[in-house]
Amino acid sequence: MEMREQWRSRWGFVLAAAGSAVGLGNLWGFSYKASQGGGAAFILLYLLIVLVVCLPVLVAEMVLGRSTGSSPLLAPVKAGGKLWQPMGWIFVIASCAILSFYAVLMGWTADTFFHSLFFGLPQSIEEAKAFKDSVSNGSSVFLGQLLSLGLTAAVVSAGIRGGIEKIAKWSMPLLFGLVIILAIWSSTLPDAWLGYKEFLLKWDSSKFFAPKTIRLAFGQAFFSLSLGIGIMVAYSSYLNKKNQLPKEALIISGMDTAVAILAGMVTFPIVANFSEVIKPVIEEDKGSFITTFFVALPTGLSSLGITGQIITVLLFSLTFIAALTSAISLLEVPVSSLIDGFGWNRNKAVIFSTLFIFVIGVPSALSGKFLGKMFAYSEVLLLIGGFFISILLGWFVTRNYDQDLAECNSQIGVRRYLKFMLRWVSPIAIGFGLFVSVYDLLKPAAT
Ligand code: PHE
Repeated sequence: MEMREQWRSRWGFVLAAAGSAVGLGNLWGFSYKASQGGGAAFILLYLLIVLVVCLPVLVAEMVLGRSTGSSPLLAPVKAGGKLWQPMGWIFVIASCAILSFYAVLMGWTADTFFHSLFFGLPQSIEEAKAFKDSVSNGSSVFLGQLLSLGLTAAVVSAGIRGGIEKIAKWSMPLLFGLVIILAIWSSTLPDAWLGYKEFLLKWDSSKFFAPKTIRLAFGQAFFSLSLGIGIMVAYSSYLNKKNQLPKEALIISGMDTAVAILAGMVTFPIVANFSEVIKPVIEEDKGSFITTFFVALPTGLSSLGITGQIITVLLFSLTFIAALTSAISLLEVPVSSLIDGFGWNRNKAVIFSTLFIFVIGVPSALSGKFLGKMFAYSEVLLLIGGFFISILLGWFVTRNYDQDLAECNSQIGVRRYLKFMLRWVSPIAIGFGLFVSVYDLLKPAAT
C-alpha cells in the first residue's frame, strides 16, 4: 500500500485548518449576521456556542480523521461500522453543495476586485446599480465562478504538502496582517465609535431568545469553523500523533473568531461613516446580503477618492485569498473520498469533482435568491453532521476518543472535560439548534 501523505509540519496543519475556517463566513457573513441578529446578542450567543458546543465536536472530528487515517467518506465506517456509511455521504454532499455556491460568491469577490481596480468605484445610486449588475449578473459571474474553481482545483491537485500546506503558510499571515491594517485604518474614521457601538455593544435582550438569532448563531458557528462536514476529518487523516488536538482546536477557533471580529471592526465603522451614501444603496435592494458587502461598501468608500479605492481593492483581495483557502478544503472532501473509496488518482478525482460542482453551482450563479437558500439550508446540513459526530465519538466509539487524545499527551483534565461535553452537552445543544433552525427556516415569512 502507498504511504499516506503527511503534513510537513505542525503549523502547516494548523494554518491549513485555520485557512479553511477563515473565509467569506468571517469577512462578510459574521458582520452581516451580527447586523441581522441584533449585534451583541448574536455575538454572545455565537461565542458561547463555539466554546461550549463546537470545541468538543471539533476535537472529535479531528480524532475521527487521525484515528482512522481515512477520508470523510470512509472514516465513519472504519470507526463505527457499515451503519455509519450515510454520515460519510452527508459529508461529501454537503461539501459539494457548499462549494457550488461558495465559488459563485468568490467569483463576485474577484469581479468586485477587478472592477474596483480598473474602473474605479461607483459614485451614486445609479452607478451602484450598474456596478451591482456588472458584478452579479451575466457572463462575468460565470467567468468568476470558473476562475475560482479553476484556482481551487489547481491547488488541490498539487496535493497536501505541495498545494494546500504551501498556500496556507503564506496566505494566512498575509491575511492577518491585512485585516489588522484595515481595522486600524477604519478606527481612524471620525464615526468609528458609532460603528463599534452598532456592532459590539448594541444590546437587545429579546434578540437573544429569538429563533432567528439562534439559527444564525448556530449556523455561523458551524459554518465559520468548517465543522460537521468532514474537512477536519480529511485534514487530520494526514496527521501524526505529535499534534495535540485540543490545543490546536483552540488555536484554530481562536484565529477564526479573531478574524471575524476584526472584519466587523473594518466594516461597521465604514457603514457608520458613509451611512448617507450606503443606506439608500442597501434599501434599494431591500437589505439583500449581496448588496451590503459587494456594492454598498465600495459605494461608501468612493467618497474618499483614491484612498477609498485602495482600501476596497485591499479588502476584496483579502477576502478572495481567505475564500480560496476555504474552497480548497471543501474540494478536498470529495477528492480524498474518491481517492480513498474508489481508488482514483488525485488528478482524476479533482477534475471530476470540479466539473460536478461547477454544474450544480449554475442555479446559484443565475439567482442570488437561490444562492441565499442554499446557504441557509447547507448550515442545517452542518448541524446534522456535527450531531452525528458527537453521537459517534461520544457514545459509540469512545475508545477512539480516549486513546487518540491520550496518545498525543493531552492533559487528563482537558480530556475529561471534552468527553463530558461531547457526550452530554454537544448533542443536546446541537439537537436544539437544529430544531430551532428548521422551525425558523420553514415558518412562513413574517413580512
Ligand atoms: N469556514 C468557511 C468560511 O467561513 C466556509 C466553509 C464552510 C468552509 C464549511 C468549509 C466548510 O468562509
